[in-house]
Amino acid sequence: MRSIALTNQKGGVAKTTTTVNLGACLAQMGKRVLLVDLDPQGNLSSWLGLDIHNLERSMYNVFLEEVYFEEILTKTCVENLTLAPSNVALAGVERILAHEKGRDLILRKRLSPVISKYDYIMLDCPPSLGLITINALTFVKEVFIPLETKVLALNGLVTLMNTVQVVKERLNHHLEVTGIIACRFDGRTNLSNEVYSQIKDRFKEKVFNTIIRENTRLAECPISGKPITLYAPDSPGAVDYTNLAKEVLEREKNGASPDRTPL
Ligand SMILES: Nc1ncnc2c1ncn2[C@@H]1O[C@H](COP(=O)(O)OP(=O)(O)O)[C@@H](O)[C@H]1O
Ligand SMILES: [Mg+2]
Repeated sequence: MRSIALTNQKGGVAKTTTTVNLGACLAQMGKRVLLVDLDPQGNLSSWLGLDIHNLERSMYNVFLEEVYFEEILTKTCVENLTLAPSNVALAGVERILAHEKGRDLILRKRLSPVISKYDYIMLDCPPSLGLITINALTFVKEVFIPLETKVLALNGLVTLMNTVQVVKERLNHHLEVTGIIACRFDGRTNLSNEVYSQIKDRFKEKVFNTIIRENTRLAECPISGKPITLYAPDSPGAVDYTNLAKEVLEREKNGASPDRTPL
């Protein structure tokens, strides 16, 4: 089982887009995939067709230890792809648990009974480095960082790398950044090319070779309730996320992951 947090404290960089579509591609390749929505905006859950305003149970109840994790899981339109949904209620968790002892370890405790049932557990994190993201980083072994290559954001990346390092030292020695994903790439601009070569120079083989191009079909996709491979199978977005999934599997086969090169 591989556990991966898709994290970047910046919003709009394609965390959710990558979680849905990489997760769906891996499931379509026969892997058992669990997606966990950890963003109170519930974008992952609504993308996969849930009415997030009327969730009976969600990650909120799991964090407050009111229900077992398995009780909130729902199937999706993709075989082998399971979802743990969230909605705005999750926003209350940070405040409610602010002074609770062991608050960083809740997710690890609640998810550990199910890990043998999946090949991949992927966590779609909120755009902050608060309690929920720290819980995600305490549970997983790997971090994937989606980056929007339309803006130069190396400062934010350094902050995120430092947070990962702190969690690694204090709470989770296994934690590694094993993948940086260049998203929303616009090949017509010098900036996208410049950003990609800068992160490649700085983070080397941590950066996936597959680049996710800017593609309007991906932007339209959430309202379809499906991943891009079902909504627009011939689109550049479907091609890119399929290639990314292949690269994830290829690196795994070659033993390149988790990557142990220093940050
Ligand atoms: N490759 C892409 N091409 C076009 N639009 C994209 C692409 N990736 C993401 N988007 C759009 O960018 C916005 C932010 O993406 P999202 O995955 O929600 O980011 P995050 O979860 O990091 O906040 C969404 O409107 C999404 O549809
Ligand atoms: Mg999101």
